[in-house]
Amino acid sequence: MEYGLWFHMALWRSLPGTLLLYPALAIHGSLGLWALYQRRNFKWKVTEAVQLIFGLSIPALLCTHAIGQRLGPELWGLQKSYGQTLYNLWLVRPDFGVMQVTVLLVAWIHGCIGIYLWLRLRSFFPRIAPLLLVGAVMLPSLALLGFYQQGQVVLQLAQQPEQVAEWRSPARIGTPAQRATLENIRNNFLLAYAGAIGLVFLARGVRVLRERRRGMIRLTYPDRTIRVPKGLSVLEASFRYRLPHASVCGGKGRCSTCRIRVHGDRSRLPRPSTREVFVLERVGASADPAVRLACQLRPQSDISLVPILPPQADTSFVYGKSQTHLSEERYLACMFVDMRGSTEMAQKRLPFDTVFIVNRFLAAVSQAVMEAGGQPNQYVGDGLLALFGLNTDRATACRQALNAAAMVAGNVDHLNKMFAEAERNPIRFGIGVHAGEVITGDIGYRDTVVFTALGDTVNVTARLEELTKELECQVVLSDEALKTAGLAPSGLPSREIVIRGHVP
Ligand code: FES
Repeated sequence: MEYGLWFHMALWRSLPGTLLLYPALAIHGSLGLWALYQRRNFKWKVTEAVQLIFGLSIPALLCTHAIGQRLGPELWGLQKSYGQTLYNLWLVRPDFGVMQVTVLLVAWIHGCIGIYLWLRLRSFFPRIAPLLLVGAVMLPSLALLGFYQQGQVVLQLAQQPEQVAEWRSPARIGTPAQRATLENIRNNFLLAYAGAIGLVFLARGVRVLRERRRGMIRLTYPDRTIRVPKGLSVLEASFRYRLPHASVCGGKGRCSTCRIRVHGDRSRLPRPSTREVFVLERVGASADPAVRLACQLRPQSDISLVPILPPQADTSFVYGKSQTHLSEERYLACMFVDMRGSTEMAQKRLPFDTVFIVNRFLAAVSQAVMEAGGQPNQYVGDGLLALFGLNTDRATACRQALNAAAMVAGNVDHLNKMFAEAERNPIRFGIGVHAGEVITGDIGYRDTVVFTALGDTVNVTARLEELTKELECQVVLSDEALKTAGLAPSGLPSREIVIRGHVP
């Protein structure tokens, strides 16, 4: 340990090390006080509360050790060593020993939470999390084992009076006057630090008074209107009135899960900051001026708003599947494909065989959809809803859907040939194709949220697919899909049908 101390000193007692360490400590500590000032409510998640309380307690817990170990050598050339320090912590001042262990754990947990809150929004985090966890547990455990084991060594060495005399010599621990000076410095630091925290709370009180004088504004949510002082962010207002609102990063402008859509007049809204624009760009929402981050927007006048993501949105919304799925109305071509006769098949065959055949069928259909340029969107039993036009114009979307219908027929034909010997009845199917305006968005609850399309167009597509049974054909497509694709009916049989509940 004494040998290792040489490297430690060479780094942190050097000029670059000193210039790095102490300004970093001062800036980090000041940011903690700033966070305490900025926070408008104290309804924190456990990690946030632990992070801040532990962070604020580190200077108070660490100052005795830091002042003794750094100022003593700097002011009077005192020679510090692990042996002398451990003797002090284990035998002379065991209360300082407990404090040293406490500050190690507090600082380590504070650092781990900080790194976790920073990295968990990165897409690679799930992959490296197990490794980080091993490091987070092992490093302090090994450090504390070292502290214990060397403490035992020091207890044995303390049987030798000459060793103790050396550790307690003025060259190591200073004269009584020098120790009193260090103690004074420590007490003054603690007083100043407590004063700084008190000043932060004073500043918070002054801010509340000033905000009350500036007046109140109304924020209208879908189910409630609240009155809040000007200057509060929308997210802070939600928390203050216990309105559920997603906020994975805790309002730091990193995750985008708090985003809202502002309705009505937006001319008096403050312009988005560079940070807000950056985060909105990352999720593909910067082009829409109605979309803002609730944690960054501090409205100065009344607004109406709708939170875009469900309150329970988690990190998967940040780096996962849901990042571009804002609810919107758009033109899409839809295709429903359903396997015929799967119920009878399930009655006659083993469950494994039935699932195997249905999966092969859905794979053949999905492959056709993707090759045509569409997206297999939802699997319902032995059926599939496919969407076309998510990234193309409407004419291309309809042509892709018609193309996919033809390719499904080809793929299933191929499947039937493969199963010709084992299957007595070939696989049959029905397809409905239609196009029109749909509403797209993320639908579901908690972990089971999927991007899908809703609306009359989707219902009509499903009805057209059902009609294939009545009309005894494989595909029924709508006039709208055919015309938008720019194709002539060219002899295809056509008929007019009435669909229940559909308003043409
Ligand atoms: S809460 Fe994370 S960006 Fe607003």
